[in-house]
Amino acid sequence: MIFYFTGTGNSLYAASVLGTALGEEVKNIVEYLDGNNEVITIGKGEILGVVFPVYYYSLPTVVQDFLEKVEIKMEEGSRSFILATCGATTGDSTKIAKDLLHKKGIATDFVFALEMPDNYVLLYDVQNAEKQERMLTSSKDSLNRMIQLIKDDKRGNHNNIRGPMPGMMSMLAGALYRKGRRTQKFHVTDSCTSCNLCEEICPVDAIEMRGGKPVWIKDKCVHCLACIHRCPTGAIQYGSKTRARGRYVNPMSGL
Ligand SMILES: Cc1cc2nc3c(=O)[nH]c(=O)nc-3n(C[C@H](O)[C@H](O)[C@H](O)COP(=O)(O)O)c2cc1C
Repeated sequence: MIFYFTGTGNSLYAASVLGTALGEEVKNIVEYLDGNNEVITIGKGEILGVVFPVYYYSLPTVVQDFLEKVEIKMEEGSRSFILATCGATTGDSTKIAKDLLHKKGIATDFVFALEMPDNYVLLYDVQNAEKQERMLTSSKDSLNRMIQLIKDDKRGNHNNIRGPMPGMMSMLAGALYRKGRRTQKFHVTDSCTSCNLCEEICPVDAIEMRGGKPVWIKDKCVHCLACIHRCPTGAIQYGSKTRARGRYVNPMSGL
């Protein structure tokens, strides 16, 4: 069973490719956050996968919650992997996820990382179309390599894009993300048509429509940026910088 979280489709796409190749079901982590779930059992010959986007060299809060709260039973002969998708480097995010599984008594057999188009438009513009195309093409090869490593049972840490000082980066940036995630800069321009799509697609139900316009709920928002990237009229902005920046949704994710 492969669990994923996604904002703009990179992690969903990666989880789906691996799920299809390995014959594993693919499930959205957000369906497991209400605390009412039965124990998840990974049987003999089956694989547990956790696929998530890197946020501030760390984990999206909902992924951390999932790994802390959900009960998972690994039967003998089952295996597990972690896959972080990122724009450039993962820091220690895969180690953080691995440690959280370890606390549940689950040993991670494979650790992977996948460079994908960057969606963090609060700080940078998206890459140009050619660069995105190159990254998406090379992501197919990387996913095929991961599938082969799992099939050949070549266990180990295959993440070689942790970047410099991963421990320090994850500690500092991760704390900033968890404490400093704000929502008051989210707003819509006049091109908002009150279509409600942002409310419908927010994976963590952090958007409420009030008077036909979206309002972001700080306690729920994880800054996945699905709303900004998937708004059909490009009306959603964060501060003043995102107006001049592009938008991105993984074209192979089905989103
Ligand atoms: C809040 C936030 C923080 C991010 N931080 C990082 C980061 O620290 N390092 C990195 O390489 N990419 C970072 N990214 C880029 C995403 O990890 C990357 O684009 C990912 O593949 C998006 O996955 P998704 O399409 O499944 O949402 C960040 C994106 C967001 C939204």
